[in-house]
Amino acid sequence: MSVDADALFQPFTLGDLTLPNRLVMAPLTRNRAAEGDVARDITATYYAQRASAGLLISEGSQISHQGQGYLRTPGIYSPAQVAHWRKVTDAVHRAGGRILIQLWHVGRVSHTSLQPGGGAPVGPSPLRAQTKTFLEEGFAEVSEPRALDLSEIPGILRDYENAARNAKEAGFDGVEIHAANGYLLDQFMKDGSNHRTDSYGGSIENRARLTIEAAEAVLKVWDKGRVGIRLSPAKVNDTEDSNPQALFSHVVEKLDGLGLAYIHMIEGATQGDRNAVDVDYEGLRRSFRGAYIANNGYSRDMAAEAVASGNADLVAFGRLFIANPDLVERFRLNAPLNEPDRATFYGGGTEGYTEYPGLDEAA
Ligand code: PHB
Repeated sequence: MSVDADALFQPFTLGDLTLPNRLVMAPLTRNRAAEGDVARDITATYYAQRASAGLLISEGSQISHQGQGYLRTPGIYSPAQVAHWRKVTDAVHRAGGRILIQLWHVGRVSHTSLQPGGGAPVGPSPLRAQTKTFLEEGFAEVSEPRALDLSEIPGILRDYENAARNAKEAGFDGVEIHAANGYLLDQFMKDGSNHRTDSYGGSIENRARLTIEAAEAVLKVWDKGRVGIRLSPAKVNDTEDSNPQALFSHVVEKLDGLGLAYIHMIEGATQGDRNAVDVDYEGLRRSFRGAYIANNGYSRDMAAEAVASGNADLVAFGRLFIANPDLVERFRLNAPLNEPDRATFYGGGTEGYTEYPGLDEAA
């Protein structure tokens, strides 16, 4: 049976941007940056190939050297990184697309070999996550973190602001703040990883403070109609909250107060069970006046249903966009999809990156 997917191909006004359809390319770590953690020319090709998406969200890009947690992820803190990202945004715009950059600080999900001076990764508390990172030799356990001192927080907020300014210089159409998936902002929000007793720990309001301040830092540079945020209430990367419903009700209310263009919600466990946690996503969506981007394991028909029923404004796809540069056209035609090849997700070159065929080439 083929569901009527018309709803997916209606334009949408997302803050200050006009999108031609409801399909978003999710941020996807691909570990293909060059020396200096700059985007390569093949990265410009990769995103431009996918420019028919209503919106592209870049792979997570560290706001500082300290914010890096995996090998060969791109940064947005050095002049060279800005210059190389400029080639990507130019290529996407020439192809008729729109692209936001995802601003990323991994917090404790890192390794000493990736940190400035070989130091310990930083987090809210000195609690090591039971999770892996990606290094030269492959996947490896993350290192023991140290707790950020209160005096270091203003510097991190300045890194968000500088990265936001660099993103503008690099020609992006806006930014997404990565507050999901067990990275720094999520670590501060969730009580499993945040055992602080200062103004950034304890109450829900205190734990949410860094996320809200990071958003305010970005809003010094960008109009609110060009800023969104990604959230993941479920446990991910060993980062879990004892009451995600209460926590995220508060967070979404605060974000609504800032007038952000969208919240991008990973519903359930990232890349896993959509029902992993008892959170009322529809309730969160209704308490936010901006747009709602739904994500996690959606098929074409699920997405059509979510958008047609008003449960989502936009739907983000990760693995399907890796394997199908022309996903929008394939969904329009209800055409068969290429299968993503897991072995080429992280690291490497053009294979599994810019070489997935479009419908016309496959025919
Ligand atoms: C990953 O590298 O697997 C990864 C990176 C960023 C995310 C989630 C997963 O937000």
